[in-house]
Amino acid sequence: MPARDRLILALDVNDADYALELVDRFGQWVNTFKVGLELFVSSGPEVIEKIHQKGKKVFLDLKLHDIPNTVARTAQMITRMQVDMFNIHASGGMEMMKKTREAVVELCLKENLKRPKIIAVTVLTSISQEEFKKEMGFQHSIKTHVKHLASMAYKAGLDGVVASGHEIQAIRGVTDGNFIIITPGIRPSWAPPDDQKRTMTPKEAIHSGANYLVVGRSVLRQPEPEKAIELISLEIVTAL
Ligand code: C5P
Repeated sequence: MPARDRLILALDVNDADYALELVDRFGQWVNTFKVGLELFVSSGPEVIEKIHQKGKKVFLDLKLHDIPNTVARTAQMITRMQVDMFNIHASGGMEMMKKTREAVVELCLKENLKRPKIIAVTVLTSISQEEFKKEMGFQHSIKTHVKHLASMAYKAGLDGVVASGHEIQAIRGVTDGNFIIITPGIRPSWAPPDDQKRTMTPKEAIHSGANYLVVGRSVLRQPEPEKAIELISLEIVTAL
């Protein structure tokens, strides 16, 4: 599998024209582009349609977290946008995840749509073990928590999770080989961590078994973004 099928570029910008320019600039290294809250709130669903027109896939990263009925119905609206994948928070609970999956499957059958992959967010890569215990009040480790949430997502019939590279092995222990693991918090040795705490290099994440790596600032905030993505792609290919 070429590196471009493993890399997801986060379009963390607030201007649709600029986002589409980035799709053109980085399309040779990336097949899936991530539309997050900033771009979606500023530009709306049209930007997704335009990325699709360029022949690229979209991961809609809105991290839905609400009561089962609200998330399931919102997921149906997302399904009509025909994104390749979207995500919901596993901590929204089993019922929320199951209802969302059911609602998406039902709509796809009814309207003959391609079913998007439904991905569960576990514990954000920006949270450190210390914050997790002291601020959020959990007594167990992040790894134990992520493993539990991933196991719930798997049992709910979701397609995969977003998790840091540090928890991949634990997740693989409670899911099967088809379960997708998307890893953000990717930082090559030459890039600063920014607000991310549980980071890994591209090579480490691939060696740990991540299916997709999400990269944002370590490409877009570099003085030479094309050079940065080329180095990351090379690191992935070498690690595969
Ligand atoms: O710039 P950076 O590479 O840190 O960007 C990571 C991207 O992945 C951001 O768009 C962020 O919203 C997203 N993300 C994350 N941690 C998660 C889920 C998504 O950093 N658990």
